[in-house]
Amino acid sequence: MKKIAAIIYISLASVVILWGAGTQAETKPETGQSALPVPPLLEGENLKLVMEEGSLTLPMGTSRTMGFNGDYLGPTIRVSNGDKVNMEVQNTLKEDSTVHWHGLHVPAEFDGGPHQIVKAGSTWNPKFRIDQKAATLWYHPHLLGKTAEQVYNGMAGLFYIEDDYSKNLPIPKEYGIDDFPLVLQDRRLDKKGQFTYSPGMHDVMNGYIGNIILVNGAYEPYLDLKKGTYRFRVINGSNSSIFRVKFSDERDFTVIASDGGFLPESVETSTLIISPGERYEILVDFKTTEKISLITEIYGGDSYKSMDFNIQNTDGIYYSHPKSFNYTPTIYDESVNIKRNFRMETRGMRGFSINGKSMDMNRIDFTMDKNSTEIWTIENVGMGMMNIPHSFHVHDVQFSVISVNGRKPGPLYSGPKDTVLVMPGDKIKIALRFEDYTGIYMYHCHFLEHEDSGMMGQFLIE
Ligand code: C2O
Ligand code: CU
Ligand code: CU
Repeated sequence: MKKIAAIIYISLASVVILWGAGTQAETKPETGQSALPVPPLLEGENLKLVMEEGSLTLPMGTSRTMGFNGDYLGPTIRVSNGDKVNMEVQNTLKEDSTVHWHGLHVPAEFDGGPHQIVKAGSTWNPKFRIDQKAATLWYHPHLLGKTAEQVYNGMAGLFYIEDDYSKNLPIPKEYGIDDFPLVLQDRRLDKKGQFTYSPGMHDVMNGYIGNIILVNGAYEPYLDLKKGTYRFRVINGSNSSIFRVKFSDERDFTVIASDGGFLPESVETSTLIISPGERYEILVDFKTTEKISLITEIYGGDSYKSMDFNIQNTDGIYYSHPKSFNYTPTIYDESVNIKRNFRMETRGMRGFSINGKSMDMNRIDFTMDKNSTEIWTIENVGMGMMNIPHSFHVHDVQFSVISVNGRKPGPLYSGPKDTVLVMPGDKIKIALRFEDYTGIYMYHCHFLEHEDSGMMGQFLIE
């Protein structure tokens, strides 16, 4: 098990400065806490998702929302490696949308990116076979120029893959009992206690930063637990906020998985920095009867108590935390593999670009052969006023991080990844293996305001 310092893996001089610089939320709740909602499981070969309008009532007010099979967020889809999945996605909204399976390796025609529009009132039927290791993935709309708004309104859900390995690991795995999703999202409440998506120029640049944190769609919820070991699958489901997450007593916990599955070695830490779209699975021991909170700090914003854990005076089950897992990194050869560079640039009023270009549905940025291994170098060429963090997400694959600013990545970036945080000035090298499927896939900044403002491109696998 590796032990790491609180401030983590990347260059990150800039990260340290900007935490906790914002102002406190003015709208505070008037009523009591609610229990942590746990999204229902959706399992089996035939799965149905209905995109629908709804509303979400928080202690401060009621907001108009959108969700899958409900008012806000969606069910947790759970499948096993090798399963056939026959999906029915019905759009009952008054607007077009798409559903992208973030982190899932599927044929391009079923990827759910901006090319697979599900028109208002219509139904989409993607079919695929699960062909990857156990992981905590997620799904969300990906309509060109509208992703940020639809996700903000509540459209997102979890997509778990299990396999023989994960099913046999001696770790907590009972959904909603000792294995909980924690979808962290910031939302900006107005004076009426409602959140609506209305970004100004500043929000497009810096992200639509909120003044409250929701966990699984609830405001400061509580979770009553017995003493024992728990597994939390933490996802940053925000539009553009980088979160730093810790417990109120700064206790250590064990990180066992990143975006695409288990880490090679577990990591002991007391804080996690999670950028939008990234996921971590952690194991925590609660050994005494107590109340402990989860603290979520927004980069460039404030620090919030996001939820409480009430540990009861009853004994549950303790598990030892595994030290290593079955991860095999992408094998690459620097001397022969194709290399590409991606310069992520903030251009002020002119939006955002990758390699000087803004997203264009009619332009394929590059083409590659199926069954190729590539090495990509991603650089955030931030400067002065344009010193804005970005992230980089690639569809279709889980990749390995080779280096961060010329150095071996930190332990949290040594497992399977589909999204990496790229701070201003950072240079990140990744190895990607493309197999099985052909067609058009996307790569983009996962800060949704940036993505919607052009920081996206597409590649064709032939
Ligand atoms: Cu989570 Cu292309 O997105
Ligand atoms: Cu994706
Ligand atoms: Cu960005």
